[in-house]
Amino acid sequence: MARNKIALIGAGNIGGTLAHLAAIEGLGDVVLFDVVEGMPQGKALDLMEAGPIQAFDAEITGTNDYADIAGADVCIVTAGLARKPGMSRDDLLGTNSKIMTQVAAGIRENAPDSFVIVISNPLDAMVTLCKRETGFAKSHVVGMAGVLDSARYRSFIAAELKVSVESVQAMVLGGHGDDMVPIRSSCTVGGAPVAKFIAEARLLEIEERTRKAGGEIVGLLKTGSAFYSPATAAIRMAKSYLRDKKEILPAAAYLEGEYGHSGFYLGVPCRIGAGGLEEVVEFALTEQEAKDLDVSAAHVQETVAAMDKILAQ
Ligand code: APR
Repeated sequence: MARNKIALIGAGNIGGTLAHLAAIEGLGDVVLFDVVEGMPQGKALDLMEAGPIQAFDAEITGTNDYADIAGADVCIVTAGLARKPGMSRDDLLGTNSKIMTQVAAGIRENAPDSFVIVISNPLDAMVTLCKRETGFAKSHVVGMAGVLDSARYRSFIAAELKVSVESVQAMVLGGHGDDMVPIRSSCTVGGAPVAKFIAEARLLEIEERTRKAGGEIVGLLKTGSAFYSPATAAIRMAKSYLRDKKEILPAAAYLEGEYGHSGFYLGVPCRIGAGGLEEVVEFALTEQEAKDLDVSAAHVQETVAAMDKILAQ
């Protein structure tokens, strides 16, 4: 049986971490693609040489030629600029939308049967553009944000209560911006509602920190944005697809009426299995959460409209 093939479009901080995690997890062979000459090849060689130590047999190659992603089962896209301090994700729109147009053409022509996970920011606009430009079905183009944002929420709650992160379940939905929506009504600690453990005022602080968590890291790093946690989140999604795990994970999905929205991508709970994004899982939100989701959705629509304006110039 042939091994799966994972193509990583963009071999920067997240791309390199994705390659390392994919190899360690034994997800398949890995191709690192980047426009910078030598860099993906160098990272691939470095990772290959880690194989005998970690005991992974994956073939890891670097390339500047889209032809080398042919036959990929999964493409994970991180091509584009990352934030610097003082920038919002939306500030990346002009540059990254042009890059995404090229990337989508490369995937469409060389890996037409792949499951595509977009990470590049501003996420919701970039994944919308990727779907449009590849022409792929909505089941095969998703955005990674919710797994990461939910993990941030879970980490902060676990740290607050000094409990295992595994005992905290939570979902953050909506757009991948500062108005994302932590769904407190479905957040549990050891199976019981989080509000039984943490007072309202403190929960509000934790939720605000969650919304700004990406910016907190940018402020500390100064030269770029988070990469370990985004890569780990995308690998979890890729694994659910490749191993048909059917995990329910929050992800940016193309909506056609779910949660009252249509025609663009938004972070919602999704079942990911061998069929790709097999189902958007709908459940009742509180009135406030539903309102907050609408606000976040309106922001995503504004960003997509701004992107369309830029691309039309
Ligand atoms: N095609 C392929 N790769 C490209 C292209 C292109 N047209 N343009 C730029 N790249 C590559 C860069 O050469 C760089 O190696 O994308 C890579 C991005 O890597 P980093 O700058 O290290 O950024 P990273 O931290 O990996 O984040 C990538 O994900 O989370 C988002 O906001 C983040 O948009 C950013 C993306």
